[in-house]
Amino acid sequence: MRDLSRRWKGVGLALAAAALACGEDGGSQPAPPAPAASPAPAAKPAPPPAEPTPSQPARAVPAAYAADAGRGAEHYATFCASCHGPRGCGEGPMAGALDPTPAKHCDGTYMNALSDAHLFEVIKEGGPAVGKSPLMAAWGGSLSDEQIHDVVAFVRSLADPPYEPDR
Ligand code: HEC
Repeated sequence: MRDLSRRWKGVGLALAAAALACGEDGGSQPAPPAPAASPAPAAKPAPPPAEPTPSQPARAVPAAYAADAGRGAEHYATFCASCHGPRGCGEGPMAGALDPTPAKHCDGTYMNALSDAHLFEVIKEGGPAVGKSPLMAAWGGSLSDEQIHDVVAFVRSLADPPYEPDR
């Protein structure tokens, strides 16, 4: 929804810009009569302006790539919230139909005992890779390793009591 309306706004802006560009000629000379059949192919409408896309980090990952919960939140909303819930408390719309129920990422008592490597593996390879249900799918086909690190960082931010990384 949000994306769509932004996109339309982008088209509107592009049209407005085109109208402005046409207007510049009009002031100095009367517009020539339009040819009966215009052979000029209509210019393609400009694509909507590129939005900043934090969800698509550059493929080349700098050595100092830092997992980012903010980027992870977008992937989580897209791929995980339907089952795990937007707040990770297992309140997603599909959760009621699943047995076992989706893990509660807000449950720090459970989640904080799991290592980053474990979370990475279950997200990338799916539940069976760590002895869990196949209802927890493998997301390695949808998310790059870097995006999975971001998702892990976001999942960590949901825990209550809060997750305290090893120092
Ligand atoms: C189709 C529903 C569904 C979706 C979508 C889903 N999961 Fe799960 N997930 C589950 C279920 C069910 C379990 C519980 C598996 C079990 O306990 O055997 C689970 C468990 C987990 C666990 C806990 C693993 C453990 O060792 O206890 C993590 C972490 C997890 N999911 C992360 C994610 C992330 C991140 C995403 C999005 C990229 C995601 N899940 C998308 C259903 C889903």
